[in-house]
Amino acid sequence: MNICVFASGTGSNFKAILSSINKKYLKSKVSLLITNNPDCGAVEIAKKNKIDHIAINKNIYPLLSQKEYSQKFLSALKKYDIDFIVLSGYMKMIEPEVLKKFKNKIINIHPALLPSFGGKGMYGMNVHKAVIASGVKISGITVHFVNENYDEGKIIFQKCCEVKSDDDEFTLQKRVLKLEHKYYWKVIKMFEA
Ligand code: GAR
Repeated sequence: MNICVFASGTGSNFKAILSSINKKYLKSKVSLLITNNPDCGAVEIAKKNKIDHIAINKNIYPLLSQKEYSQKFLSALKKYDIDFIVLSGYMKMIEPEVLKKFKNKIINIHPALLPSFGGKGMYGMNVHKAVIASGVKISGITVHFVNENYDEGKIIFQKCCEVKSDDDEFTLQKRVLKLEHKYYWKVIKMFEA
């Protein structure tokens, strides 16, 4: 597959995917990174690995209509001949036109066990804080298809881990990220022909 990764942050999942490609665990290739945040760590990782990146956000393109804005994404995806999209800590909604064009070809990883601890505002550290505050004893990761609602697409894969009584959001995040790095590429592999 010819993959486009969408990321907004540190990019540790992006890095783990690239590493699994370098080790030839995956046959796919990442040809493009799309980000809403041109200063994020994921961009640095793209540069280091000589992967093209494009920043698209409403500050860069304030005057575009909704349709023209979606077109920015679609034309980038077309230019790079992308056939699969992997969200790796991407904090924006995917444009409806992109969802339509890539139906069942966009996956996301979420740092908890959906359908709990998902929805608007539930991303990154917010998720781990909510998990700790709730008192649940198990958290984990969910990989799911992306649709028009935050974190509501069909679940593809889950793996759980313990929430320890002395965990804070940072120790829990560390344990969950370890699972993300270990399993995300394996889920991508399921989609390789
Ligand atoms: C990951 O924990 C990922 O599951 C989460 O953002 C983090 C990105 O880390 N995604 C979400 O919360 C999506 N709702 P990374 O930039 O180091 O890969």
